[in-house]
Amino acid sequence: MSVYSELLKRVDKKNLPTHVAIIMDGNGRWAQKRHLVRVKGHEQGSKVVKRIVETASNLGVKVLSLYAFSKENWNRPREEVDALMQLLHRYLLVESNNLIKNGVRLSIIGDRKSLSPTLNELISDVCARSEHNTGTRVVIALSYSGRYEIVEAVKAVIKDVQDKKIAPDDIDEELFGNYLFTKDIPDPDLLIRTSAEKRISNFMLWQIAYTELYITKTLWPDFTKEEFLRSIISFQKRERRFGMTGDQLITQKNSSRGYSLNE
Ligand code: IPE
Ligand code: IPE
Ligand code: MG
Repeated sequence: MSVYSELLKRVDKKNLPTHVAIIMDGNGRWAQKRHLVRVKGHEQGSKVVKRIVETASNLGVKVLSLYAFSKENWNRPREEVDALMQLLHRYLLVESNNLIKNGVRLSIIGDRKSLSPTLNELISDVCARSEHNTGTRVVIALSYSGRYEIVEAVKAVIKDVQDKKIAPDDIDEELFGNYLFTKDIPDPDLLIRTSAEKRISNFMLWQIAYTELYITKTLWPDFTKEEFLRSIISFQKRERRFGMTGDQLITQKNSSRGYSLNE
């Protein structure tokens, strides 16, 4: 039996993370280690995207979000930025039919204004064509920054208050969440970051309040479907307490089975 099938057997299909988010990092170092130009690392990385989208979709993960390009990444050398935009364009062009055929719904979050008109057109087309799909929702964060998203949401809330659509007292976490790019997407349950960096780099700052983190040394171009399964198995072994005590969780679990330890 293959390693993949062995791991698949260990995944509890009834307890899958609904939303897996990935900070796909380490493409540049992967290329540098091989004395290649950084762009080669991005090329290899985009092949891994294809593989992980397929794996998540086969497994039945409802939402897979991928941090592809941050607002801060615009500060990289011009040639690298151009190459990344081209790769993204190519990925959408080449993969979209296949993704749509497999039931994937594609969404892009980020500052669309900063993208080229051609890329924006392609994005709108692919998103519209996949809008009614009910399979895995693939969310690509592109020209994205968590702080930017929050500031845009604040501006939109203020406008709605000024237009009297909402009152200041209506503002709570749920309402605020509805002004974010991710308004119809549940918060990530699991966040994977490749290449060992122990930081968030401005990704989904609001949404990851109680997300489980999985940080791996593996560079993104080396990330495999086996490691994707390992991250899910690791997630499934954890106790998510959301501020409660471990004992409270046991009581809650038992009472949802029809009896309580405290009774
Ligand atoms: C991630 O790989 C891809 C993007 C940020 C666009 P990097 O390009 O950041 O790779 P490293 O971190 O330099 O190795
Ligand atoms: C985070 O990676 C952004 C993406 C993966 C798109 P970076 O390589 O930009 O993050 P830092 O600069 O190391 O924090
Ligand atoms: Mg990096």
